[in-house]
Amino acid sequence: MTLAELIPSLRTSLPAHLHGDVWPATARRDEHGEISVGGVRLGELAARFGTPAYVLDEADVRRRCREYARAFGPGDVVYAAKALTCRGVLRWIADEGLSLGVQSAGQLATAAAVGFPADRIVLQGDAKSPTDLAAALDHGVGTIVIESGSEIPRLAALLRRRQRVLLRVLPDWDAGRVDTMSMLPAAPVADRFGVPAAGTTLDEMVRRITDQPMLELVGLDFYLGSRTSRFGGYERAISHLVATMAALAQRHGTRLTEINIGGGHAVPGTDTDGQFALDAFASRARKVLRVACDEHDLPVPRLAVAPGRAIVARAGVALYRVLAVRRDPDGHQLVAVDGGLSDNPRPALYGARYTAVLLGRLSHAGDQRTTVVGRHDESGDVLVRDAPLPGDLRPGDLLAVPCSGAYQLSLASNYNLVPRPPLVAVDNGRARLLVRAETLNDVLARDLDPDIEE
Ligand SMILES: Cc1ncc(COP(=O)(O)O)c(C=O)c1O
Repeated sequence: MTLAELIPSLRTSLPAHLHGDVWPATARRDEHGEISVGGVRLGELAARFGTPAYVLDEADVRRRCREYARAFGPGDVVYAAKALTCRGVLRWIADEGLSLGVQSAGQLATAAAVGFPADRIVLQGDAKSPTDLAAALDHGVGTIVIESGSEIPRLAALLRRRQRVLLRVLPDWDAGRVDTMSMLPAAPVADRFGVPAAGTTLDEMVRRITDQPMLELVGLDFYLGSRTSRFGGYERAISHLVATMAALAQRHGTRLTEINIGGGHAVPGTDTDGQFALDAFASRARKVLRVACDEHDLPVPRLAVAPGRAIVARAGVALYRVLAVRRDPDGHQLVAVDGGLSDNPRPALYGARYTAVLLGRLSHAGDQRTTVVGRHDESGDVLVRDAPLPGDLRPGDLLAVPCSGAYQLSLASNYNLVPRPPLVAVDNGRARLLVRAETLNDVLARDLDPDIEE
């Protein structure tokens, strides 16, 4: 019998279980209010590495990789490095046989540092700098996604060997391209590069690519938008891409053998959000692809996906220390923690929702509606809204925010000259630092004294 069962008043502040949609696979909660991930207590990690800190469950990342690999085949799952990149994570992604989508020379250097197989790397991005392109060619990346006409001669001029390329196609519809968590429209077509799926520009782009002997156009690439839990947009995309392939085969004799329908698969941030049904999605996508290919009498191309968030978000837990508490007469509790906008800009940027849990002690107080704000004195610096947290929170308490593995460290800043937190991997009772905490010296070192001559 657990302590919560013996003392019913504890139940409100001790969730019976940690919801698997939100917490890492190995998260466990004991009767003292401690949560462990990867067999390591989060309170111990906070004491050892300080707060704020990001904790990452290696087993959870590997498990998501395997689920995607089973659904699509490992090489056709292109992990989006923008979600979270460091040597440790890329080593796991490489081990699991996935491919890797990079956007910069920095991500390429990290991939190179762990010996990520170059033929499984895809360079994407609507504004690839000369440095990014040079790094990609130096490294010998397997595939480059062409997203605008100006890239074609620039890339061709740099090439010393034949290069596989995909062409980024834009959807020519708006319906369904909605961020289903925030219900904000995804970036409109007018704001994004790529080639409209219908029209003369596509023909012109294909002709310009196939005119370049060093470019080998192997397929089409597509990105629907972010945090999508519905399949409809992807199904329409597959049908469009296949119709486009058929039209290109007819008009130019172009034989394309791959399509990449991107990522953007939703991950719930709180216990109440819906889940992206991966296996159902994979079988729907394959079926739609088969039907469309039959209709156009085309061989079935390779089908690739490019998830980022869905691989790493749920493996991450952010740890914060409470610094200030205010309890209002209406029962609302306001809590300020030692991080915020600088380590998680997603609530401010996208209206992302999170939940928070008290760590390390049992509370006898009932839950109270609580807002957790960051340290940056900004109206947008709200980490968690309406969290049911014990009504006796006090400075010094530790809070854990699950679902913090994606687009947090990678989007972190030094706002207010606050150093960025460390990333700690946990597995089988062992904690390893993947990214050390930034020091104040790191942050201040770039600021030069204008009175000192170089
Ligand atoms: C081109 C492209 N592919 C894949 C992704 C991955 O999206 P997510 O991490 O939401 O799966 C992104 C994210 O913005 C993207 O821009």
